[in-house]
Amino acid sequence: MIDIQGLTYTYPASETPALNGIDLTVPEGQLCAVIGANGAGKSTLCYAIAGFVPHFYNGTLTGRVTVAGRDVVATPLAELAGEIGLVFANPFNQITGARFTVREEVAFGLENLGVPRDDMLARVDAALALVGLAGLGDRSPYALSGGQQQRVALASVIVMRPRVLVLDEPTSQLDPVGTREVFETLAGLAQAGGTTVVLVEHKPEWIAVHADRVVVLSAGRVVLDGPPAEVLAAPELSGYGLAPTRYTQAARLAVGRGLAPGDRPLPVTLEQAAPFFTDRVSP
Ligand SMILES: Nc1ncnc2c1ncn2[C@@H]1O[C@H](COP(=O)(O)OP(=O)(O)O)[C@@H](O)[C@H]1O
Ligand SMILES: [Mg+2]
Repeated sequence: MIDIQGLTYTYPASETPALNGIDLTVPEGQLCAVIGANGAGKSTLCYAIAGFVPHFYNGTLTGRVTVAGRDVVATPLAELAGEIGLVFANPFNQITGARFTVREEVAFGLENLGVPRDDMLARVDAALALVGLAGLGDRSPYALSGGQQQRVALASVIVMRPRVLVLDEPTSQLDPVGTREVFETLAGLAQAGGTTVVLVEHKPEWIAVHADRVVVLSAGRVVLDGPPAEVLAAPELSGYGLAPTRYTQAARLAVGRGLAPGDRPLPVTLEQAAPFFTDRVSP
């Protein structure tokens, strides 16, 4: 669904490339988490998949980005928007400012597509319910908390039913309950709906449970790529400025102190940690 070959991109007036030789193929229906330290290129990768790079940011791009069969560089942004939904890191960038209520805000993109009114209202209410905002449809988007605005931004993209959903830190302002709801929503869209999801996130415990795959970026390159159980337990992770899950940390400490045998894969989830600590524990 997403096919990136040899992508190198440099922002205008910048010396060093923000993305440097990225090869990445994401099949339909996969939930692919992207992690990396500050400045690693995560946001830029989101922009490149959604076409904001190079259509909005210009700069110098080499290589090829194909999404849903379309060459992103050759396809106008408006045409890509029908297939690819991008949720920005800061919800202020998403909220149009042109609408008075949350419901109107979420309906904005559908209005532009000319979706019939009854159909539109049903889709908007379904999207609001999906992100846990049912009942807030009549509020002003500006009378909401940061976390609620983040959910409005997500709803306004989900309502368009994109085949590819790209999310840049969509839970940064959410509490643990909100974070769990967003992850469950995204996993549901990927599993049941076949939506391809690229998710930039910092919360390894949630990635470990819900992602099909984890890609680690460092200085514009893919440095690790694999299933969560492999990537999140990799000893190199901290060298890229990233923390493993609390379960991996505890298990690594236990092995280091000789409290647990070191011949088994380290757990990345609670479900894996429980047997790790109870099977064959040292006396
Ligand atoms: N608009 C911009 N103009 C010039 N350089 C930028 C711009 N946005 C980001 N960069 C640079 O590109 C690199 C990758 O940034 P970014 O994709 O935002 O990383 P991340 O999202 O992983 O923190 C960084 O070195 C950053 O300074
Ligand atoms: Mg970023």
